[in-house]
Amino acid sequence: MIILNRYIPDEVINEIRNAADIVDIVSETVRLRKQGNNYVGLCPFHSEKTPSFMVSHEKQIFRCFGCGEGGNVFSFIMKRDSLSFPEAVKALAQKVGIQLPEQENPEKAAEIKLRDRYFKINELAKNFYQYILQNHGIAKDARRYLEQRQISSETIEKFQIGYAPPSWNSLLQFLSNKGFSGKELETVGLVLPRTRGSEGHYDRFRNRIMFPIWNVQGKIVGFGGRVLDDTLPKYLNSPESLLFNKSHNLYGLNKALESIRQSDQVIIVEGYLDVITCHQAGINNVVASLGTALTREQGKLLLRYAKNVIMAYDTDAAGVKATMKGWQLLDELGFRLKVVSMPNGKDPDEFIKNHGKEKFLQLVQEYGQNLCDYQTDRAMEKFDIYTLEGKFKIASEVIPSINNMSNEIEKDETINRLAKRLHLSPEAIRAEVEKFTRTSRNDWRNRDKIVDIRNNNTDFVKVGNTDLGQTGARVKAERTLMSMVLHDIKLFKKVKDQIGITFTENQEYLVIINLLNEIVEKELNYQPASFFDRINNERVSACLSSLMVLDLPVEDKEKVFDDCLKTIKEDETRKRREDLLRQMENADKQRDYELRKKLLLEYSKLI
Ligand code: GTP
Ligand code: MN
Repeated sequence: MIILNRYIPDEVINEIRNAADIVDIVSETVRLRKQGNNYVGLCPFHSEKTPSFMVSHEKQIFRCFGCGEGGNVFSFIMKRDSLSFPEAVKALAQKVGIQLPEQENPEKAAEIKLRDRYFKINELAKNFYQYILQNHGIAKDARRYLEQRQISSETIEKFQIGYAPPSWNSLLQFLSNKGFSGKELETVGLVLPRTRGSEGHYDRFRNRIMFPIWNVQGKIVGFGGRVLDDTLPKYLNSPESLLFNKSHNLYGLNKALESIRQSDQVIIVEGYLDVITCHQAGINNVVASLGTALTREQGKLLLRYAKNVIMAYDTDAAGVKATMKGWQLLDELGFRLKVVSMPNGKDPDEFIKNHGKEKFLQLVQEYGQNLCDYQTDRAMEKFDIYTLEGKFKIASEVIPSINNMSNEIEKDETINRLAKRLHLSPEAIRAEVEKFTRTSRNDWRNRDKIVDIRNNNTDFVKVGNTDLGQTGARVKAERTLMSMVLHDIKLFKKVKDQIGITFTENQEYLVIINLLNEIVEKELNYQPASFFDRINNERVSACLSSLMVLDLPVEDKEKVFDDCLKTIKEDETRKRREDLLRQMENADKQRDYELRKKLLLEYSKLI
């Protein structure tokens, strides 16, 4: 403390302490729940099952009644991040955007300064748009539009809504007069450079209702601008910038924090206006992913504040797709999830305006579904439940998600509900789920993992099959099978007899199989190590070496081998069935009922 004071004056330390809320800082790593005047959670400094860790917002201190740790926001950061006092002060100063005198790292200091300047630009732009909306004659239509959408003046104030006039340079001029350069404004995304040789910039947002987008600390990182009519694009958003990282941000989170913590629940919607209408109706634990698919970073951000998520996306095709992807991601992060669908394809904004807050809350509290039930609903809107193939189609859409459920009781109940709705026996569905489980262990998760590997540019040859349509189990079975055959060429005959020599789509495998086939047919001498000599393609030899070094089962070799064959066969059947379903759909469209009958017959034989 004494040493530190030489660097950082006490009043700066106080300023930092006052600017940071200990509840926010602790929440970065501890999930807190409100209890009376305080917040409680599981202590990060010792392991415990019931919360004895307390944070007082009022006193700005924390205390664990289990292990005795306690202190202020600085002590918390010191303990949590293993920092010295000055380091903790610096870390926190950076977080709350307070500049320390005598920064040790001039680069970092410069960046903070730059960020501050950009935040300042956004703040001024917001003021400008707000001023125009509230005072200028040119904003008459905008004001009428907001009125028509039933957005109150308090809400307009609270969400700092503004209007960008239909001019090419009014914001540019306003901010130039305040001493900001066109280049700087371009960097935060408020203006664009003129093209075709001419100098200068022009306003990006023109004739649009402007919604500032905040970070968790409530600073403006960007804007979304909506047209007043049906012109496209409906929304124009700020580009990514030093301030704005779309995949790490959720619209409205800064305003929703308190309520999310208190209810331990967050409602995720798609759009600006869904958030705004919910808040206006007094439902405050609502944030928006802004039309894009939810990201893992956004999920992690939410995980700090709540365990329960309600997804309330639009029920149009894009919304349904986003719901499924988002569900999977949030599920993996460990949230307790429910999805609600607004009737008749409405979004929460319209629903609340038509039916009121109470009905919406009822929908959220009582009609939340799990993903499978939600998918069943969507599939039943698409397919005819009174035909056999309709039932097949509905079931095949839902079964992958049932397969993914980790809670066996919930799984069982879901199967029963699906069976009832399709007028099938639960046993039939259960058998299908089991079949699916066998052939495609965690199909879509594995696919995503493969995509992840791709994005990380990991050497892909090692994984074997690059076909994203292949299931994880299938890939693994092929790899094991290949490896076993390479170790013991006597197995080759069985493969050839049972699944042929073109069972794989992996090009490297195909080359190897062809060579093996040649060796067997010509009864040539085979030795695993010398097999390399026959190969003059780098990718194939890389693949070969990865197969050769694979750990093979020591016991039950035969069973493992048979299992591989079985997995591949079943996966082929599954693909054939999917193919038949597609063909049936086509036959449906062509009204070719003869063909459809034939296809259905083949399909039912495969079941
Ligand atoms: P209203 O149609 O005015 O009710 O707005 P909304 O927020 O309900 O819009 P919608 O449901 O159509 O879209 C949800 C979100 O997706 C919006 O809030 C935007 O963030 C985003 N979005 C929609 N249309 C566009 C677009 O044309 N461009 C971009 N960049 N984003 C869009
Ligand atoms: Mn809408």
